Amino acid sequence: MKILFYDTKSYDKNSFEKESANYPEIEIDYLKTDLVPKTAPLAEGFDAVCAFVSSDVGADTLEILHDKGIRLVLLRSAGFNNVDLEKARQLGIRIMRVPGYSPEAVAEHAMALALACNRRLYKAYNKVRENDFSLSGLMGFNFYQKTAGIIGTGKIGTAMCRICHGLGMKVIAYDVYENPSLKDFVTYVSLEELLAVSDLISLHCPLMDTTYHMINIDTIRKMKDGVILVNTSRGALVKTDDLIEGIRMHKFAGVGLDVYEEETHNVFEDRSDEILEHSTTARLLSFPNVMITSHQGFFTVEALSAIARTTLQNAVDALQGKESGNDV
Ligand code: NAI
Repeated sequence: MKILFYDTKSYDKNSFEKESANYPEIEIDYLKTDLVPKTAPLAEGFDAVCAFVSSDVGADTLEILHDKGIRLVLLRSAGFNNVDLEKARQLGIRIMRVPGYSPEAVAEHAMALALACNRRLYKAYNKVRENDFSLSGLMGFNFYQKTAGIIGTGKIGTAMCRICHGLGMKVIAYDVYENPSLKDFVTYVSLEELLAVSDLISLHCPLMDTTYHMINIDTIRKMKDGVILVNTSRGALVKTDDLIEGIRMHKFAGVGLDVYEEETHNVFEDRSDEILEHSTTARLLSFPNVMITSHQGFFTVEALSAIARTTLQNAVDALQGKESGNDV
C-alpha cells in the first residue's frame, strides 16, 4: 500500500519510520505541504493519504481525492472536525483516526498550562533572566482544596480528573454521559453549577455543533472571579472575542490555551504583520495573564509512537478490508 503523507514534520517522519519497520507492506512518501484542494491532486497513484488536524478534508478536497482514486484517508489525530464526513460517506471514502493515543500527554499539558498561569511561570522565567529577582506580580493561589471543573470526561478529561484529584483538589465534572469509573472522586454537576463554583475550568469535550462557542460572554459571566480557564481541546469551543471581553472584565486569574480559533489558518506560521494585526490570537497574547502554546498537548515521545503505530495498523486493517473501531 502506498500512502502519501501530508504536512510532514521531522518528528512525524522519525516516529513513522521507526514504526513502519514492522509494516513491510506499507510504503510512505512524505510531503511537507498540507492537504488542501490545491494539493489533493498530488495523491494520484497512491492508495491512501495521511492527514492531520490542520488539513482541509472538506468537500472539495474529498472530491479531488476521489477523482484521483483515493478511498482511504488516515487521520493521525483524534479530532476529525476538519473532515466533511457526509461527503466522505457519499463518495465511499473510508476515514480512520487515532482515537486515544495518549490521553495523559494532553491532560498533563493542560495541568502544565494551569500551573504555569497560576504561578506566572512565564513572567517569573523572563524576570529572572533579566536579573530581576523580585516577586512582584507573581502571586498565585494553592490548587490544594480548590475546585477543578472538568468539562468532558472522556479519555483526556478522565486523565485530567485523576491529576486534579492527585493535587488534592475537589473535582467536579460536566458531561452529557457520566463516566462510572470516576465515581469515587468526581461529582457530576450541571454546567451552570460547574461554571459558578470552579477555581479551575478545563475543557475536554470535542468540537461539535452543540459545543461550538460553549464558552461565551454568558457562560463567562457565570464563572467565579479569579478563575483559571484552560482549553486544550479545540479553539472554537471558546468565542475568542467574548474571552477577550471577559479578560478585560478581570474575570480570569489566568487563561491557558493550547488551541485557538484561528489555528486552521496557520496564522502564526505566516507571521506577516498584517495577519498578526488582525488576529484575535495576537490580541489575546497582549494580555499578561494569557499563555498560549501551539497545539502541543499531544507532543510527547509516547504519544507520537502510539500515533504512528495506530495509523499504520489502521492502514493494514483497511488493506485487509477489516472493520475497525477507529473508523469515523
Ligand atoms: P473523548 O471522545 O474520549 O471524550 C470526549 C468527551 O466529551 C466524552 O465523554 C463526551 O461525552 C463529552 N461531550 C460530548 N459533548 C459534550 C458536551 N456538549 N458537553 C460536555 N461534554 C461533552 O475524547 P478525548 O480523547 O478525551 O479528546 C477530547 C478532545 O481533546 C478531542 O475532541 C480533541 O478536540 C482534543 N485533543 C487535543 C489534543 C491536543 O494536542 N491539544 C490532542 C488530542 C485531542
